Amino acid sequence: MGPASSAETDAHGSAPEPGSIRLVQISDTHFGRDRDFEFDGVNPRRSLGGLIGQIRREESGVAAFLATGDLSHDASPESYTALREALQRLAAPVFCIPGNHDDPGTMRRFLSGGRVVCPEAAQLGGWHLIFLSTHLQGSQGGALDPGQLTALEEALAARPQPHALIALHHPPVPIGSPWMDAMGLENGEDLFAVLDRHPQVRAVIWGHIHQEVDALRNGVHLWGAPSTCVQFKPGATRYERDDRPPGHRRLTLHPDGRILTQVVRQVSAGTQA
Ligand SMILES: [Fe+2]
Repeated sequence: MGPASSAETDAHGSAPEPGSIRLVQISDTHFGRDRDFEFDGVNPRRSLGGLIGQIRREESGVAAFLATGDLSHDASPESYTALREALQRLAAPVFCIPGNHDDPGTMRRFLSGGRVVCPEAAQLGGWHLIFLSTHLQGSQGGALDPGQLTALEEALAARPQPHALIALHHPPVPIGSPWMDAMGLENGEDLFAVLDRHPQVRAVIWGHIHQEVDALRNGVHLWGAPSTCVQFKPGATRYERDDRPPGHRRLTLHPDGRILTQVVRQVSAGTQA
């Protein structure tokens, strides 16, 4: 893994550059069955409500939202139903991927509806977005099974031009936080073996770690996102809460393959819009 990519940023308040595609990644929403559920002192529903208000005020021209796992904390139908209702306030499709806290079947059944969908891929302009499930039943870590790796290989071979972005829940590389690295993606090397054969892949993005990561491997950006609720302290050896506010990641995909990205933190954490 190389140094941070020092990506440029793009203010999403103005009109998008012609041909570019704006995305917003939200991750680890951790909704509970009960509306009063708190994750280490933070109410995920209230926290996401504030963040969605901020996104609606500050992010214009967003083509799609990517929700990268741990969308529920307890995989209950009630949590997914409440999250679907919250996400309907966003003015673009929301592409959802399961995390270790999710149950993929329950998630598909109760979260899908209206603009909220759980696809395997999407085509936006010249960009091929591929969504991978790393859910591993009974484990906090994740893995890509052989069938998914084959499907990924075939999907990339079928659309070799012009650019691709991969989204999943678990980080495919260690992030330097031992307790988190013990529950990352078990077979990140298998993922990179596929990606190395397909140079159109520009970036891999994920959630799970509740903190920002910015790295580069073989010309592919590797970006981790904060959570919309509790943050985890970078470099911690065991669970430690970070006092940074919740946030989201904005991405602008350009026709020439460049991606501008920035993590945006909530101005006033926990406020309801
Ligand atoms: Fe999480």
